[in-house]
Amino acid sequence: MSAPRLTILCISGPNLQLLGVREPAIYGKVTLAEIHARLEARGKALGVAVDARQTNQEGTIVDWLGDAPKAGVAGLLLNPGAYTHTSIAIYDALRSVGLPCVEVHLSNPDAREAFRRRSYVARACLGRVAGFGADSYEIALEGLVRALSAARAQAAQGSTPA
Ligand code: DQA
Repeated sequence: MSAPRLTILCISGPNLQLLGVREPAIYGKVTLAEIHARLEARGKALGVAVDARQTNQEGTIVDWLGDAPKAGVAGLLLNPGAYTHTSIAIYDALRSVGLPCVEVHLSNPDAREAFRRRSYVARACLGRVAGFGADSYEIALEGLVRALSAARAQAAQGSTPA
């Protein structure tokens, strides 16, 4: 019997349901449904299942993060939208669950308005992929899966008797 596929939870925050029509010069023309379909396909190729969701509610992101460990989620992709720059609640939720998380942005927030330079979630993330448009999500998935594989290999090595 083959091992069950790892599940990656991908959460996109406020206004990202409008991708495709929202400021296309900044965010591109690819819709969130298309991004989710690409993630599913890329996940299949990488041997993981991707559960991709979007909400405009900060508390819903906190709820989804809090439920992730008992739902068997192995890692997180998170584009908190504007909550990146404001949400201590999301930062605390990430710290509370302790799952490996990659911060994702379509644009490069550091190259934009000054208020976008602060990320409250960055300190609770393994890393960040930003500025590659819709591709940021797939690149982040790739990086997360590599990090999970490396962690598993290390754990397996640690459990081998010397
Ligand atoms: C964003 C960047 C944020 O600054 C902004 O508020 C968003 C989208 C991005 O994906 O580039 O809503 O997270």
